[in-house]
Amino acid sequence: MTTRSHHPDTALLLRHHGRAVAVWHLAATALTSEPLETVRAFRARVLYAKGRRPDFRDSTGRFWDPQDLDFGAWHITVDDPTGRPAAYARLCPPQLIGQFQTRDYLGAETFTKITRSLGEPKGVLGLPEGIWEASRLVSDEHVRGQGYGALAQAAYLALARVQGANAVIGLSGTKDGQEKFHQQFGYTTLPDTEGYEPHYTEGVCVVIWPTRQTAGRYEPLVDSLASELANKLAPSSGDSQGTVNELGINGVLI
Ligand SMILES: CC(C)(COP(=O)(O)OP(=O)(O)OC[C@H]1O[C@@H](n2cnc3c(N)ncnc32)[C@H](O)[C@@H]1OP(=O)(O)O)[C@@H](O)C(=O)NCCC(=O)NCCS
Repeated sequence: MTTRSHHPDTALLLRHHGRAVAVWHLAATALTSEPLETVRAFRARVLYAKGRRPDFRDSTGRFWDPQDLDFGAWHITVDDPTGRPAAYARLCPPQLIGQFQTRDYLGAETFTKITRSLGEPKGVLGLPEGIWEASRLVSDEHVRGQGYGALAQAAYLALARVQGANAVIGLSGTKDGQEKFHQQFGYTTLPDTEGYEPHYTEGVCVVIWPTRQTAGRYEPLVDSLASELANKLAPSSGDSQGTVNELGINGVLI
């Protein structure tokens, strides 16, 4: 692991129009590390939003976003040209379904009802196995409107497809029109899920994207990233085999 890096050396690196996208998995049993602390501080700084969401700073003033959901999840960062994180997203596999933010928000009963309607109940907690959750999509205020957020979102959707997910679920803010951002990728808002989230100090709703559905105008991007990721994760590929082993995901997640 390098110092001052926001992703481990073992991250899968993709390039899109000169922008570096790093995709890495953190084992459920991992200890905290510099890449994890860097992405936590980055997303906390963005979500703090100059004081709008005070929970994202601790009592010492440090940007602070520790979440158990980080362990066992995939982390995606898109770098700015200087190599610092410009955008970030997290993708959580069904193994973490008991901690999903959508489950916490909807309550176990409603969450179970909704997700069971999406497929054959057989996975963790008797829920469909193929439901993954995306969260913490953020782009730095200074790079907004330049495609960084869309690239982070496209990368996790591509990863979900490659991992064989049936659908990706998530909480979307509504204050800044974020659900419209999601709709551009083919996400649908689930009916009667609008509400208020005190931690985010804003309105939210639950959105869902079936992986077999097109990703709207971003489909070519998602498709191309999915091909690249599939190649890098393929067991027959010499380099990526090493990466998979080092990340500790062999036989656990895939
Ligand atoms: C939402 C967010 C990630 C978008 O990031 P971004 O880097 O500005 O997005 P992009 O530049 O990639 O935008 C891609 C497209 O979506 C549009 N878009 C971006 N934010 C949007 C929003 N809030 N509502 C509607 N459309 C939006 C852009 O205009 C752009 O469309 P265009 O290509 O036609 O110009 C960013 O605003 C953010 O971090 N917000 C604070 C945290 C947050 O709300 N996260 C989402 C949680 S659901």
